[in-house]
Amino acid sequence: MMLVESGNSLLGEAITSVKADIDSLFDALLPVPDDTSARLVEAMRYAAIGGGKRVRPLLVCSTASLFGVSRDAALRAGAAIEAIHVYSLIHDDLPCMDNDDLRHGKPTLHKAYNEATAVLAGDALHALAFEILSDGNTSEDPFTRSELIATLGKASGMHGMAGGQMMDMIADEEGVNYDLHTITRLQQLKTGALLAASVEMGAILGKVAPQGRMHLRAYARDIGLAFQIADDLLDVEGDIAKAGKALRKDNEQGKQTFVTLMGADKAREQARALVDQAVLRLASYGAEADVLRELARYIVERDR
Ligand code: IPE
Ligand code: IPE
Ligand code: MG
Ligand code: MG
Ligand code: MG
Repeated sequence: MMLVESGNSLLGEAITSVKADIDSLFDALLPVPDDTSARLVEAMRYAAIGGGKRVRPLLVCSTASLFGVSRDAALRAGAAIEAIHVYSLIHDDLPCMDNDDLRHGKPTLHKAYNEATAVLAGDALHALAFEILSDGNTSEDPFTRSELIATLGKASGMHGMAGGQMMDMIADEEGVNYDLHTITRLQQLKTGALLAASVEMGAILGKVAPQGRMHLRAYARDIGLAFQIADDLLDVEGDIAKAGKALRKDNEQGKQTFVTLMGADKAREQARALVDQAVLRLASYGAEADVLRELARYIVERDR
């Protein structure tokens, strides 16, 4: 997987260019003002520029490219999802949530600034996502813009990421014991929803009708679940220097995951089976879907 990170493969090249493009888009979207709100924008830039793997923007771009969508439009939709993702990480790291000091190999935002600034930078990135999507540069078609906004809104809120984070926070309360079905639901909401929205938004930009998105949706659901299982495996087995965040915390914090429920080996088997299934979902596409296939494999075998 080091080869992937260094860009020496189809997927590696795709990751490298999406990383650079998303960094420059955030750089352009977040000019630091010359007034007392400067600190807020500096904090947003600290969290949003550099660091992440940019898996969600890559999913948007790779899906959108199947349908001939312009890269600029796909990158803007990808940046919107990434803004939500970055905000979710800022809040996830706060002392009242996972209480983490390290993210992307540097101090978490509330450590580098303070808690109030971290809460506000998260809020402002959340709002920025919808500003990006409602802008005519993302799509000239108001119906497409509105569908993008509705899809990201649903994936972020009570029926998506925030709902899953709530289940995650409740899991460590005394006497709460989730079964496999409930953990699956938790993971699908907390992580799967934004990954699924990434694929969906690529198809929306491509003006694919909902019934034409079924295979892609199924692909996205499978990799979404596999992605969180991989994150939970990394927590148990990963290398902090590569992950750039604190590990070995889920158990201590009473998190309920596939790994805590069935052990690392079974969880890994499950994640790999999901990825095999995800790749089969793309059977009707040719070589144009190879990045999506490689990305599915990378999601479970990654070391960061
Ligand atoms: C980490 O997400 C949190 C989860 C939702 C599992 P990523 O692994 O995509 O984080 P970055 O953005 O690449 O750091
Ligand atoms: C976070 O899951 C998922 C979000 C919605 C942010 P984790 O709490 O496991 O993510 P890490 O391990 O801190 O990146
Ligand atoms: Mg968490
Ligand atoms: Mg966390
Ligand atoms: Mg984790």
